[in-house]
Amino acid sequence: MGEFDLSGPVSPRPTRWVTDTAPGHSQWYIDRFRTLAADGADLAGEARLVDAMVVRGARVLDAGCGPGRVGAELAARGHTVIGVDADPELIAAAITDHPGGRWLVGDLSVLDLATSGEPEPFDAAVIAGNVMTFVARGTEAAVLRRVAAHVRSGGPILVGFAVDRGYSLADFDRDIAAAGLRLEHRFATWDLIAWDAAADFAVTVLRVP
Ligand SMILES: C[S@@+](CC[C@H](N)C(=O)[O-])C[C@H]1O[C@@H](n2cnc3c(N)ncnc32)[C@H](O)[C@@H]1O
Repeated sequence: MGEFDLSGPVSPRPTRWVTDTAPGHSQWYIDRFRTLAADGADLAGEARLVDAMVVRGARVLDAGCGPGRVGAELAARGHTVIGVDADPELIAAAITDHPGGRWLVGDLSVLDLATSGEPEPFDAAVIAGNVMTFVARGTEAAVLRRVAAHVRSGGPILVGFAVDRGYSLADFDRDIAAAGLRLEHRFATWDLIAWDAAADFAVTVLRVP
């Protein structure tokens, strides 16, 4: 059984997942991915890329894990996964659906996993599924900084989000620099279609110096 903790720190500022979505959105999201999984949809694209970049049995932080889709795929590939999300409803779904990971309620902008008994650094982190467009506005650089603080020197952080949802790539690149991270690669998809300025989605590989 995976461990879990629903008593994490309260969000310092409500995320856009809370302020910019309608009531019932979290349950809709949970149901949507449960249905896709039951239908046999391929939900592992992000995990495949992360898996290709890390050692076997890596320790991976699924930052903004939601109901655990990406982290669960990584755990199934033999990695130790800790997922963190600000939404307790989504964490409860992750615990129910994916007992192989450790799923914690927490806000990435003030992330401090040592206080949850997880002082060991991660080999990599993944911020997938538009998390960066749902963090509270103005906290993006803090989110990158706090996630990076949990990844060992030289470890990758993979970030994917739609670039037409109010958080531009120019802003992201500024926040990457503010967080002291190195931008190593950029693609248009998780299966590595080349980056193109007209693309509406970006997958960026950052490296912790
Ligand atoms: C579209 S969901 C993606 C969930 C998951 N990564 C996936 O791909 O299925 C966006 C998630 O970002 C989370 N989120 C937004 N801001 C956050 C923050 N500051 N700290 C933790 N989670 C956050 C939301 O609670 C939500 O679960």
